[in-house]
Amino acid sequence: MNQMKIFSGSANRPLAEAISAHIGVPLGDAPVAKFPDGESFVKINEDIRGQDVFIIQPTCRPQNDNLMELLLFIDAAHRASAERITAVIPYYGYARQDRKDEGRVPISAKLVANMLEKAGANRILTVHLHAHQIQGFFDIPVDHLLPEPVFAEYYAALGLEDLTVVSPDVGNVKEARVYSQLLKGELAIIDKERLSGTEVRAGALIGTVEDRNVLIIDDMISSGGTICKAASLIKDRGARDIYVAATHPMFIPGSIERLCAAPITRITVTDTVPLSDEAAACDRVKQLSLAELLGDAIVRIHKHESISELFLRKLRRPEELTRHN
Ligand code: R5P
Repeated sequence: MNQMKIFSGSANRPLAEAISAHIGVPLGDAPVAKFPDGESFVKINEDIRGQDVFIIQPTCRPQNDNLMELLLFIDAAHRASAERITAVIPYYGYARQDRKDEGRVPISAKLVANMLEKAGANRILTVHLHAHQIQGFFDIPVDHLLPEPVFAEYYAALGLEDLTVVSPDVGNVKEARVYSQLLKGELAIIDKERLSGTEVRAGALIGTVEDRNVLIIDDMISSGGTICKAASLIKDRGARDIYVAATHPMFIPGSIERLCAAPITRITVTDTVPLSDEAAACDRVKQLSLAELLGDAIVRIHKHESISELFLRKLRRPEELTRHN
């Protein structure tokens, strides 16, 4: 079998180091730099001819720089004759621009997919896409991980009784249903309307939250608008404690202050992107690591083994799993 080589861009080196430590494969030598005029530069300082190369780089803030760095990495690996190049993208930026819902707008998530393929990626490993259909923007295999094993274990251990799992918009209903089944809770859904990049309106709530503990599920938090509006609505309807599980902590400046003013007991996020200083200092925010999940997926891809198996194995109570990816 070809040798496995893993490299990290500069977007989230701590996650890449944790993945490397978990699977026992050192990160390859590939410094990333900036020219004085701001252009990115990548150099792979070791032989990768004929090898199985994994490049770890979430396309989080600064999105355009991190995306460009990933494209340069893939191009460098391709031109260095790697046998196979897997772009490991724990957070897929531009995913929310996944449809043309008004005139004269781009489908940016598709454009990013085109660029990754054109640069030479042979497969994609990513986490909790804003919409599962984004996988179809690629004509190469996409392995799509969900953080269910990590979040479900955490919340099962808290032993929350009388739980209702809430989807703060229709886009997350499927995910929320899985958690409601895993944690033996009920399901509720909010009808959300986005008014602008930072403002949302939480309308009708379908389901029961009165005198119940609540877990809100979302793929990401950016401005915090979605979660704050959902939490206020749920509290007004008589909920007890409100918890949040959001995969990608894309907190923009000011969002933590906003979230702290909302009736939320705890916000759990993962390490797909680095935490801002503001979020790291907030004791309501708890970061759970996906390094083991990603590391196990990388090893399985390398060995041509099933990824779905991983979901079953990672759950402590597989008999409770009613659906796996
Ligand atoms: C939207 O459809 C997503 O699932 C998230 O709810 C949203 O992107 C979160 O953004 P914000 O925190 O700015 O409301």
